[in-house]
Amino acid sequence: MKIPFFIQEFTDEMEEAAIHTLRNESFVGGESVSKFEEEFARYTGTKYAASVSSGNGALQISLMALGIGKLHKVITPTNSFIASANCIRMTNAKPILTDIDMNDGGIDLSKSKNDVNAIIPVHIYGNPCNFDSIKSFADDNNIPIIEDACQAHGAEYKGKKVGSLGDVGCFSFYPTKNMTVGGDGGMATTNNEETALKIKSIRDNGRKTKNEFDKLGFTMRLNTVNAAIGRVQLKHLDEKNTRRREIVSLYKKKLSKDYILPENKDGKSVYHQIVLKHEKRDEIRKKLTDNDIGSAIYYEKPIHMQEIYLEYGLTLPNSEKFSKEIISLPSYPSLTNEQVEIIAECVNKIIN
Ligand SMILES: Cc1ncc(COP(=O)(O)O)c(C=O)c1O
Repeated sequence: MKIPFFIQEFTDEMEEAAIHTLRNESFVGGESVSKFEEEFARYTGTKYAASVSSGNGALQISLMALGIGKLHKVITPTNSFIASANCIRMTNAKPILTDIDMNDGGIDLSKSKNDVNAIIPVHIYGNPCNFDSIKSFADDNNIPIIEDACQAHGAEYKGKKVGSLGDVGCFSFYPTKNMTVGGDGGMATTNNEETALKIKSIRDNGRKTKNEFDKLGFTMRLNTVNAAIGRVQLKHLDEKNTRRREIVSLYKKKLSKDYILPENKDGKSVYHQIVLKHEKRDEIRKKLTDNDIGSAIYYEKPIHMQEIYLEYGLTLPNSEKFSKEIISLPSYPSLTNEQVEIIAECVNKIIN
């Protein structure tokens, strides 16, 4: 590809941190883990952060720590990565998959019934969701909010970082995300000490003390080497998010018409995805591919249309239409202005 959709970053600084950690710290539970957690908590403006082995793990363990399980229902949007719903099923609770706002692809609670036990809003594409409406829904139902911030490291709503808005915030460090750890990884953030301790116990087989276990748990810790790489990445997160915001401004300037999904007016998106919505999506994609330019669709199939959710028998028309009209353009920080111009020129040929 002349311009790939995504480039995996590995810098000398990441390499040095990795080697230093592997030579000097325990592979599991080394001091880089607690340092990464402290720094991540400080960054998100929360009191506690617990690292785990993936975003899916962060979501699943957070639900368990909040007491979600059998007979419970948890509401989440259908336009997300499948983990946003699978984490609910893994606790034996039922996901209530919900349709979306066509404007920005985020959850639309206007038709939701008030009989659920928790809510997982997703800050999809790095754009913070309308948290006031989420909060009032949660308050009306007296239920916890588990933010799926897996795509939104550093995003803000009304001046507060995502991950600090709900009861727990969950992040993924999968290699395509705005920050990575050189492998799979995740983090759960919270202001509640008891919740943080439960998450740390469940990620470690339900450990209470060295040789005592008082709950069911997994082996879902973050390896020390990944934490060390995460610390390096966290240091550079703001500058990279700033570059993503520059890239989106340039796209908007260069596209003959602005079809890019809007940013929450009360927030600051970190543009994990720069998503264009247009009826001629397939033509746009073909043109890009013919010109050796990568693109992607997040998501081709909403969760309720995935095989393991067909048994729910849902029709969610907004998300079904939305999924046919969206395309993600390259958005990584090392994309040059010239490359953005080439991509925009290519898209213009179709949308004009
Ligand atoms: C919105 C969303 N939720 C959950 C996840 C799950 O994260 P992970 O892949 O680290 O398990 C991802 C990432 O892939 C995601 O984008």
